[in-house]
Amino acid sequence: MRKKIAAANWKMNCTLQQAEDLLNKLAAVETHLSNEKISIIGVPYPYLLLAKEKLQTKENMFVAAQNCYTKKSGAYTGEISAEMLQSMNIPFVIIGHSERREYFNETNAMLAEKINIALEYKLQPIFCCGEALSIREAGSQNSFVENQLKESLFHLSEEQILQIVIAYEPIWAIGTGKTASNEQAQEMHQHIRNVLANKYGTSVAEKISILYGGSVKGNNAKELFAQKDVDGGLVGGASLNADEFTTIINSL
Ligand code: 13P
Repeated sequence: MRKKIAAANWKMNCTLQQAEDLLNKLAAVETHLSNEKISIIGVPYPYLLLAKEKLQTKENMFVAAQNCYTKKSGAYTGEISAEMLQSMNIPFVIIGHSERREYFNETNAMLAEKINIALEYKLQPIFCCGEALSIREAGSQNSFVENQLKESLFHLSEEQILQIVIAYEPIWAIGTGKTASNEQAQEMHQHIRNVLANKYGTSVAEKISILYGGSVKGNNAKELFAQKDVDGGLVGGASLNADEFTTIINSL
């Protein structure tokens, strides 16, 4: 059985005090998590260890970094390596968020390198893909997303691809309050699973969690997560409110 996942992406939000407050609240709320239903909290780098400490008693709630660099170590001022994350026992890392692609010029080829180094250091990547509005309006979202997957993931072995969590995040739905309809989400998730199945076989594709991201809220999570190929969500804005994010977790 593939895992159901409610993942938070705090992005570049929260002062230390706000982060502490939010983590205290998350540590205190009642969540119905299990081995099959997990939560992942993606916090800014400076709060990774704090988040680990605050959530250490929360079973099946894990911490993620939001990025890492392509290189092992060296003179790359301001960057963070996969080895550093591994040394802090961080289990997950978000790779290829559309904001990284757009503002930091991350290409599919560069993301393939990030995936490789993350796996080398035993981090589980949450790989983001998704199209801009113009691509959807032109009706070419399926081939666009397929190409993202091919160029960044399809060099991986079967064993490696099973380590990947995929997050489909249509850019037109991110932070806009405009959610993909249940049908649009299911259609793309099914497409992604088919693309994976064509490359790695159905039984592998069936084991990979595919999350939806883009204006997931407490009041739409349940319907989205009920779609056959939607295995949870990657949540931005609504993850900054502990009560709302708890509702999302409990919608799994
Ligand atoms: P919002 O939930 O704020 O739309 O952000 C989605 C996202 O980008 C998560 O990575």
